[in-house]
Amino acid sequence: MRPPQTALPQTATSQTGSPAGGPPPEVAGEPPLPASARIDLDSERKASQADEVLDALDRDLVGLTPVKTRIREVAALLLIDRVRARFGIATARPNLHMCFTGSPGTGKTTVAVRLAELLHRLGYVRKGHLVSVTRDDLVGQYVGHTAPKTKEVLKRAMGGVLFIDEAYYLYRAENERDYGQEAIEILLQVMENQRDDLVVVLAGYQDRMDSFFTSNPGMSSRIAHHIDFPDYTGPELGSIGRLMLAREGYELAPETEQVFADYLDRRREQPRFANARSVRNALERARLRHADRLLAHGGEVGRDELVLLRPEDFLSSRVFIDT
Ligand SMILES: Nc1ncnc2c1ncn2[C@@H]1O[C@H](COP(=O)(O)OP(=O)(O)OP(=O)(O)O)[C@@H](O)[C@H]1O
Ligand SMILES: [Mg+2]
Repeated sequence: MRPPQTALPQTATSQTGSPAGGPPPEVAGEPPLPASARIDLDSERKASQADEVLDALDRDLVGLTPVKTRIREVAALLLIDRVRARFGIATARPNLHMCFTGSPGTGKTTVAVRLAELLHRLGYVRKGHLVSVTRDDLVGQYVGHTAPKTKEVLKRAMGGVLFIDEAYYLYRAENERDYGQEAIEILLQVMENQRDDLVVVLAGYQDRMDSFFTSNPGMSSRIAHHIDFPDYTGPELGSIGRLMLAREGYELAPETEQVFADYLDRRREQPRFANARSVRNALERARLRHADRLLAHGGEVGRDELVLLRPEDFLSSRVFIDT
């Protein structure tokens, strides 16, 4: 199956040429509605096509309930803001800069991509793309290199979401003259300037992000939403695995269920465990073993053999080889 982002229907913008979001109507020249007017929220909601993104988020991502709730709240706010604007009720553009904290593979990048699409449908940003960067994309090696690099990235991200992974590497406490500080200052300016249609999402581990904010109060005060992505539980990892398999046209044979659960329990205890990403990698390797097993056996196969992953496809993993 196709990845979920591309499976989403085109936005109203690209279909009709008139942005689904766009400027509030009074800006577009329409006079504000009279105070006695009534607006049907259900049809506003439908017209925005935001629910498609929200429903896809629910469907495609296991768990993450607090994250999904916050994203829904942001969507509700933007929709209501648009309706208020129709009545000419003045509202400052809400601050939507965010910080996503969590371990590797907990879904931060995936959620940021969906967020960008949602913000576009609700008219908060013009394009709705995601530009994902790390320190090296923003900070130069020599005097005078950082500002142009950072500005170039900002230019690319305009109209969408700038996702800065491991944002705390921008700040090096031990080196006062580090060029990272220059990048931070440019970012701060752009984040403050409400006219720029850009949302900045800082991502990384909670504890390092906390100390980054302590050393950079200016950055901290510009982040309105702190969203934590917890590590997945064993059953959640199992469901994530089954979801990934179903998308690729594989299934666990009944006798493989317990083996897969044991695999995940063991893998979680090992170094460099990266939540859902480790699940994805484990399944990739199981696919290799499955294909190898079928060919080694030779002869005829039917649909079942082609679809079902068997215990041995996991049991020969290093994870099961006790030291
Ligand atoms: N809750 C979930 N349900 C289903 N799949 C998930 C879930 N969370 C993450 N994934 C999948 O796991 C993979 C890793 O997710 P993602 O890259 O979003 O994590 P991340 O938090 O950005 O990790 P990192 O910090 O290492 O960049 C992706 O393929 C994503 O689709
Ligand atoms: Mg990521």
